[in-house]
Formats: sequence, C-alpha cells, structure tokens
Amino acid sequence: MKPVKVLYFALICSAMILLLNLNAYGQAKVTKEGFGKTPDGQDADIYTLTNSGGAEVKITNYGGIVTSLRVPDRNGKLDDIVLGFDNLDAYLKGHPYFGAIIGRYGNRIAKGRFTLHGVEYKLAVNNGENHLHGGTKGFDKVVWNAKPRKVANGAALELTYLNKDGEEGYPGNLSVKVVYTLTNANELKIDYSATTDKDTVVNLTHHSYFNLAGQGNGDILNHRLFVNAARFTPTDAGSIPTGELRSVRGTPFDFTRATTIGARINQDYEQLRLGKGYDHNFVLNGKIGTLRRVARVSESTSGRAMEVWTTEPGMQLYSGNFLDGTLTGKDGKVYQQRYGFCLETQHYPDSPNKPKFPTTVLRKGDRYHTITIYKFSVRGAKID
Ligand code: GLA
Repeated sequence: MKPVKVLYFALICSAMILLLNLNAYGQAKVTKEGFGKTPDGQDADIYTLTNSGGAEVKITNYGGIVTSLRVPDRNGKLDDIVLGFDNLDAYLKGHPYFGAIIGRYGNRIAKGRFTLHGVEYKLAVNNGENHLHGGTKGFDKVVWNAKPRKVANGAALELTYLNKDGEEGYPGNLSVKVVYTLTNANELKIDYSATTDKDTVVNLTHHSYFNLAGQGNGDILNHRLFVNAARFTPTDAGSIPTGELRSVRGTPFDFTRATTIGARINQDYEQLRLGKGYDHNFVLNGKIGTLRRVARVSESTSGRAMEVWTTEPGMQLYSGNFLDGTLTGKDGKVYQQRYGFCLETQHYPDSPNKPKFPTTVLRKGDRYHTITIYKFSVRGAKID
C-alpha cells in the first residue's frame, strides 16, 4: 500500500471508531411521560433516566417506584432485572411493594404501637397484628413531587413528599426527599433525607425485587450471595425480632462466604420455617453512617453482579417467599415463588420498641440522612 493510501485508511478507521463511540456513549439524560391518573385524580408520570453507557431506570412518582432497570450482561446486552408492571393500573390494584420507596417506617412495628416521650402512638395495623411498611397507605402509595436534577456523573431524579402529622398514626410533619441517581458507572444511588417539626420515628428503604438473569426468567435460587454480617435478628412467628442478635455461624444465615440463596433455604431451621424462607434482617458489620459494601450478588448465566453499599445498620433479605404466580408483570411474565429477591437496607425491625437496637428516633431540628447504592457490573470478559 502507498503511504497516502495508508493515511486515508487510518483516517477512515479513526472516524469510524469515533462514530461508534459517540453512539455507544451518549449523554446521560432524563425524559418524562404520562403514566395515568390515581383514583383521586393526581397525575402520575414516569421518568426515564439513561446514563452515558445506555443503562436505564424508569421511575414513577407514584410511590417512587422503580418500574424497570436495564443493565448490561457480560455481552453488553441490556435486560430489565427488576419485577414490576408496565402500567399504573396494575400498581393501583395492589402488589407486594415492587420497586417502591418504603416509609415512614420500613419493615414491622409490633402491634402497630410505640411510645415516644411517654406518649403512646397507634399506627395502622396491616400485617396480622403488626404494622408493616408504613401502614395502609405508606410512601409506596402516595404521589411524590418529582423533578429531574442536574448531576455531573449521571442522570438524577429528586422526589419530595410532605408526610403530614397523624398520617397512618405517626407524629410530626415529616418532609422527605429521595434522590435517585443512575450514575455513569452503572450504580443506582438512593439518597434519602428528612426533617420533622415534632420528634418521630423514621426508617426509609427501597423494595426492588431483583433477578439478575432478567425479570420473570425463573427463580433466584442460583444467585450467589455474600452478606457482610456476623449476626442477624431472629423473629417470632409474626416476623417481629425477639431482640436477640444471633451469630450466623453454623446457620443457614451465614453468607459471609458467597453461597447460593437456594443452597440452604429448605433446611429444617426454625427461622427459615417461620419466614417461609429468608425474610430476615442482617446486622451489618461496620459502622452506622459509614458508606460501606455490605453485600454482593452474582448470577452466572448472565454474568451480572450487584453490590450493595449503605450507611444503614441493617438489611432485610427477602427471598420472594410470598410470590405465588397470581401476579403477571412486564412482558406477560408470571411471577412465581422466589422469582425475585430484595435487599432492603434499613434499621432493624421494631426498633421503636427495642431500646437496645440503634435508634430510629428523628428529633425536631435534626436531619435524617442515609445513602444506599446498588452497583452493577459483570463477571467474565465481554464477547464481541
Ligand atoms: C417485606 C417483608 C415481607 C413481605 C414483603 C412483601 O420484605 O419483610 O414479609 O411482606 O415485604 O411481600
């Protein structure tokens, strides 16, 4: 080849590489579409956050629900890895907290009662004799104010809600802000903050059901899980912690070495019988308030992995035990038992009635602030 031809060839190659890159690495962005009206006439919207690599999360301001989350597998193929629906009506009909923001108190409060400064508060009772996930109309069923937020490293959506004094029985007007960011490093970051005008209790979490092989594509029993927790909180038959912080050593709750979720789930162990599988809070190692890696999950067929980072002291592992095939989600997929798992970062259940657990009291004048990050990556080389 003549030198001039070599030069042309090199120029054409560089131009093609540049075009391919521009195509693959766009700008992070947020777009908005209508999602319908709630029965009381409020508008629900759906926001699509896309990062520079093309990963995408859809979030509706109804319940702050993540309705879909598309991240690459080891070949770069995007799949939706959370359970959910593609229309508002299905969410309105009722569902087990798919993808939602949970509050004012995530998880259970025994008998729906607690005492603060000598006053007993009575909350909605919606789970047997107990209070679960904020009550009959928790944060998962309210319409949040939403606005896209400019961030340097991805696409972000800010959700705010004023939770009035007395709603579901809780004291104090609680002003809540949740910022979801899909970073360019394929992290779904959730930043929760709140202030109150009267001392109260707060425990916010997120309730996505993950299946790293793709939503609706079978159960999650072969996902390998590592949890950085030396102890967990055993419960009674109503899933209320007994108060004991039990060592995981020698129990089916020891995930300090990565183990599949299904390996021990059917063992004859009282806590697994009571929970119908895993539905328990882990006492996370490390310091409350420090953002640290607390869990890692991987799925071998897709090569996807997910790390969980949090500032919280606890995390509920729920293995989708109550899914039973009665709900049909996106793409007509039927959600059978254990088709999704949740890792709900939080304070321990029933903390308002357990003085020895880290406190969930938020005082007037103080600011509640926690961060949780679900970070996605792949194992194994990309095959082109
Ligand atoms: C939480 C609870 C479970 C169950 C699910 C929703 O994870 O701990 O017991 O209620 O939510 O079905």
